[in-house]
Amino acid sequence: MPEKIFIFDTTLRDGEQSPGASMNMQEKFRLAQQLVLLNVDIIEAGFPIASTGDFECVKNIADNIKGAQIAGLARCSKQDIDRAWEALKNGENPRIHTFLATSDIHMHYKLKMDREQVLALAIESVKYAAQYTSNVEFSAEDASRSDLDFVCQVFEAVIKAGATTLNFPDTTGYALPDEFGAKIAYLIKNIPNIDKAVLSVHCHNDLGLAVANSLAAINNGARQVECTINGLGERAGNTAMEEIVMAIRTRADQLPVHTDIVTEHIHPSSRLVSTITGMPVQPNKAIVGANAFAHESGIHQDGVLKERTTYEIMNPSDIGLTKGNLVLGKHSGRHALKDRIEVMGYSLSNEELDRVFIRFKTLADVRKEIFDEDVEAIIMDEIIQIPEVFELVSLGVMSGSMKLPTASVRLKVEGEEREGAAIGVGPIDATYRTIAQLTGTSSKLLFFSVSSITGGTDAQGDVLVRIEDKGRVVIGYGLDPDIITAAGKAYLNGLNRLVYLQKEAGKNSN
Ligand code: KIV
Ligand code: ZN
Repeated sequence: MPEKIFIFDTTLRDGEQSPGASMNMQEKFRLAQQLVLLNVDIIEAGFPIASTGDFECVKNIADNIKGAQIAGLARCSKQDIDRAWEALKNGENPRIHTFLATSDIHMHYKLKMDREQVLALAIESVKYAAQYTSNVEFSAEDASRSDLDFVCQVFEAVIKAGATTLNFPDTTGYALPDEFGAKIAYLIKNIPNIDKAVLSVHCHNDLGLAVANSLAAINNGARQVECTINGLGERAGNTAMEEIVMAIRTRADQLPVHTDIVTEHIHPSSRLVSTITGMPVQPNKAIVGANAFAHESGIHQDGVLKERTTYEIMNPSDIGLTKGNLVLGKHSGRHALKDRIEVMGYSLSNEELDRVFIRFKTLADVRKEIFDEDVEAIIMDEIIQIPEVFELVSLGVMSGSMKLPTASVRLKVEGEEREGAAIGVGPIDATYRTIAQLTGTSSKLLFFSVSSITGGTDAQGDVLVRIEDKGRVVIGYGLDPDIITAAGKAYLNGLNRLVYLQKEAGKNSN
């Protein structure tokens, strides 16, 4: 059996450090459930000392999620470690992940500490964490730019102090694959007790090399990879989980290792992360981009029709891409929908299923055939819910080449109905102006995209907007067979998120 690579998912921690990618407690919990379906080994749920909100999110996940180790990040300080443990203690095999920089540049300018002090603090902190749990990870921040003999010295010492996983991050995404692989080989050769711990890597993508560096590390003995779905993460992001996992699976002939990831959940997970964070996946993104399995040229299409493997190195179904699957129709029942949702890789509670079923039936009334993507879009829209302060009651638009576009909108604002109308440059502009008047808001629209969930003129419109108010950027998501209505819903969804986040921020600052 090829050796196992442990998959440490940090979408909820480093991934959330992507500018504009913040998630609320409910969204984080939903994502943690999805990570369990993917069968990741470790979920890094957050950085408990960072804020009360972060603490609550980690605690909620540790208290309720079963099927993966739950990790929480802590600097090398007793306060951080205590807080992390407080959040994690009820988790299944909880892991304290403590970190301290080891590069001269970080020690000198950021920590203002010398090597002896860093070594002593690392040992003291790991010993302190090990009093709580035997599952302790130590990361040498900026390791790839650190003096390697010093990292060896620190790693040897923290293993003695109780660390069971040692992480070697390329914090700034500076390393090149051959160089990074050689560093891993050096660590293995020069740390006498390295066999007592798992060696891990955590690569950033500043030069677009995070996956290549992680693979080089695996080839040289690393056995844990830290990664995120869709490659989210600080600045240019982290190693993309879908890429590293599918590289290992697809090139098993070259890589004597395996992961336990259930790859069929990759595509739904990518969609979920994109919807929750509002970070669209670029169409040409490896594995999960909309074009990753699209064949445009006639020669390629012809080849694939004759034999799929002429131009496809992976089977789309291996990542759960079931595009074009005819799911159900108007007469399908709740049970059939439930079965289909499970095949698609989602696990919903009965109450969530009820809500999705109601939406499914409404759509089935206007559409003869419903595809997987439609169901997936409903799931996204229904279960990633935030309180609806603003609710669309009705929307009507008059427009055309000879008419001044005019929208009339009826909304519920905290339960009270309001109605108004406005003109605009186009029907969407008119709709958004009316909504802004009725809600008394003045957010700025930064991004607007509309796509159809499935082909055909009766497809559902899937609208994504990014809006900004007082420096806070949120996304809004709307789905409807009528694209103007979908656009109105997306805008309102964004405004609801803004209200929600403003309230949450108010709570956290109290
Ligand atoms: O990039 C980094 O070094 C980190 C550590 C906290 C592991 O995110
Ligand atoms: Zn990082």
